[in-house]
Amino acid sequence: MQLKPDETAAGDVTDQAQASEADVAPLLKFPDNFLWGVATSHFQVEGNPYEIEPRGSDWATWTAQAGRILDRSTADRTCDFFSRYDEDIDLCHSLNLNAFRLSLNWPALMPRPGQKQLARDAADFYRRLLTDLKNRGFKTFVTLFHFCLPTWLAESGGWNNKQTIDEFERFTELAAKEFGDLVDFWLTLNEPLAYSYQGYIEGAWPPGRKGDYIAAFEAIRNMLEAHARSYHKLHQLIPDARVSFTVHWIPFQARNKMNPLDNLARFMRDEVFNHVWMRAVETGNLQFPPPVTAEKRIRRICGVIPGLRGTVDYLGINYYTRQVCEYGWGWPPDIFGVRSDLTEFETSALGWEVYPQGLYELLTQGLDPYRFDDDGRARDIYITENGFSSMFSADLTDGDWSLNDELRISYLNSHLQALHKAIGAGANVKGYLHWSLLDNFEWAEGLRARFGLVRVAYPTLERTLRKSAYIYSEIAKHNAIENPRHSGFRQPR
Ligand code: FCB
Repeated sequence: MQLKPDETAAGDVTDQAQASEADVAPLLKFPDNFLWGVATSHFQVEGNPYEIEPRGSDWATWTAQAGRILDRSTADRTCDFFSRYDEDIDLCHSLNLNAFRLSLNWPALMPRPGQKQLARDAADFYRRLLTDLKNRGFKTFVTLFHFCLPTWLAESGGWNNKQTIDEFERFTELAAKEFGDLVDFWLTLNEPLAYSYQGYIEGAWPPGRKGDYIAAFEAIRNMLEAHARSYHKLHQLIPDARVSFTVHWIPFQARNKMNPLDNLARFMRDEVFNHVWMRAVETGNLQFPPPVTAEKRIRRICGVIPGLRGTVDYLGINYYTRQVCEYGWGWPPDIFGVRSDLTEFETSALGWEVYPQGLYELLTQGLDPYRFDDDGRARDIYITENGFSSMFSADLTDGDWSLNDELRISYLNSHLQALHKAIGAGANVKGYLHWSLLDNFEWAEGLRARFGLVRVAYPTLERTLRKSAYIYSEIAKHNAIENPRHSGFRQPR
């Protein structure tokens, strides 16, 4: 599938349902200066020796424990982006991309308490990496916390200890001084709700607690405080900094829409997962929905957080899938219910339903309460992650396995169509970052869950472009996608 530049259509083509095929534009154009990029995180790609060998983070320790990672792999080497980043950035450049999201390795940069400076070797690595990106014309998105805590902080309670807030502010200050000239978009924390859910409710990630709502909500409160302090520190040191966080947005549906208990579970999940954080930033006041505030300890976690209100310069949205949920008939009762095994749509290898309309809906409705700043200006929105996983064992090397990734291509096409339609309906989206450039270490799933536009054969570290990489490259080049209603549109086979 090749897009032809001379066929590029101008203007909005979203409302052409009535138009005859001949009138339908072959391409759907995105706004000028739209950012097309990829998202990564340090632990998932780097194999960074400053973190791995000394087990300098909770994740490095976690992966070394038996039974934690489903395919028994570790991130000790993963893609070795640490040594190969320049080739990988060349690759991004050759794919016509103009934006790159990475995370800073807090554990490697601050391996000890009380540091007054970042660890020099690790800081040099990020200066080289960011300089390389800037030299090639990339806009840079930099996340300060992407799930990994320095071991010394994790051991003293992690996000349940207020000390972590102070340390995060100190890390922000040192990072802003060191990298401020090289960062276009800051993200303080990645997916705080997904982090709390996996770490304190599911127990699948560090710190590995199960069903501990109090600790989860306390961590959310502390992360909000840390975000606010980090936001102000960044603005103090870099007055025109653009600062946000990412939210993993999930449309929740009740398994049985007529069942009030299924609806309660849906409501609770939607409130807590999608809205509690965003509303707290919008209003400066953290509130959990009424049924859970019956618990005194949760009421104590709620309330105004000084400096929090309005600490968001743009919206960073990660979107993958929807979730069907239902009431769980266990004891003690859990009003958050359980994830249902019901699926109606095609699923990825991780069982995630392909649900592009969820992206359209969140951009045109779900985000409504958060779309405007205090002065009534529409906040810019960036899709900071979106992607599709296949599953191939980590020991595979040569051959054409997984290169012809038609499911990823149709996921990409359908989500970009939804995005284009949302922009046509007024959503102020300025860029899209695909998760991910390379296959990488997918947390508890390990190396076999592969999200890359580019395949990584882990035993040799060889990179091979998948068909989706070529398609994405054409999209970025023309700032447009093919119009599925045009007679020339070719569905992937
Ligand atoms: C997101 C994470 C990212 C990656 C993708 C698949 O929740 O932010 O690190 O694991 O999911």
